[in-house]
Amino acid sequence: MKDKLESILSNAMTQIEASVELDKLNDIRVAFLGKKGELTSVLKSMKDVAPEERPKVGQLVNEARNRIETKLEEKKAVFERKIREEKMKAEVIDVTLPGRKMEIGHRHPNTITLEEVEKIFIGMGYEVVEGPEVEYDYYNFEALNIPENHPAKDEQDTFYVNDKIVLRTQTSSVQVHVMEEGKLPIRMISPGRVFRSDDVDATHSPSFHQIEGLVIDKNVTFADLKGTLEQFAKQLFGEKTKVKFRPHHFPFTEPSAEMDVTCFKCGGKGCRFCKGEGWIEILGCGMVHPHVFEMSGINPEEYTGFAFGVGLERIALLKYEIDDMRLLYENDKRFLSQF
Ligand code: DAH
Repeated sequence: MKDKLESILSNAMTQIEASVELDKLNDIRVAFLGKKGELTSVLKSMKDVAPEERPKVGQLVNEARNRIETKLEEKKAVFERKIREEKMKAEVIDVTLPGRKMEIGHRHPNTITLEEVEKIFIGMGYEVVEGPEVEYDYYNFEALNIPENHPAKDEQDTFYVNDKIVLRTQTSSVQVHVMEEGKLPIRMISPGRVFRSDDVDATHSPSFHQIEGLVIDKNVTFADLKGTLEQFAKQLFGEKTKVKFRPHHFPFTEPSAEMDVTCFKCGGKGCRFCKGEGWIEILGCGMVHPHVFEMSGINPEEYTGFAFGVGLERIALLKYEIDDMRLLYENDKRFLSQF
């Protein structure tokens, strides 16, 4: 019996020593110490041992069990250490490697220009309001006094989603939403994307940006419009800038005008930049038409107001002396990184 135990023990030790992976250790434990294991079967055969010998044999079996357990634990620790070392080696970080440089982006000229315009108007007490780009025909045209047969409504100019819904062609549509809300007085600008079915060239794009302005209060006059827009032009293009209003027509304002500024390059003398004119047109404006008031439920006898619309790209092109609008949309990093 003793020899048998010795042989089991040495066999177990050899197998443990020879094992090459953690999983194998478990198989060995089962083979020797498990319910049907070799050592367990020795215990089961105790009944064949003479009674006086039993304590002795029992002790030997226990000793053998302990030695196998200990050996298994030792070997397990060896494997675990090896696994940990391999993991550490795989995860090692070479702190001497040079870092990867993060490229810092640039704000788009449109964004810089818009922020500047917003700052000017916020400084004059205006709110910045946004409206939907997909718009009912009603807000884009009808409520702005643009009649059914107006050329702007032609499919050549307007993207129609269906016969009632369009991609807005002008941010003037936001005026109507703000007026409908009925909170008076109003002093707001509304920047945003607009869409027209134009082909792309140096001065056209099917999608560009406008900034709409609207002021409604009691006793607002054309003098307020002129003063406000002159102040805007001076802050945007410099103190020396002069403005000029030319009569124009917009269905939603009466009277209407376009505003020119003196060329900030030549100061008004005429140069290549202003095509010898000395003046550059920058926006459309006018006094809110009584029909527009009535349609939005504001009494034109009680309130008056002015509105204006500026092309954002147009201002950005002027300010940064960019001569092709396409540059603003191509997102060439060599171009954008100059701002
Ligand atoms: N919506 C006009 C356009 O797209 C610009 C404009 C002109 C807006 C006069 C106005 C305005 O609010 O009063 O050409």
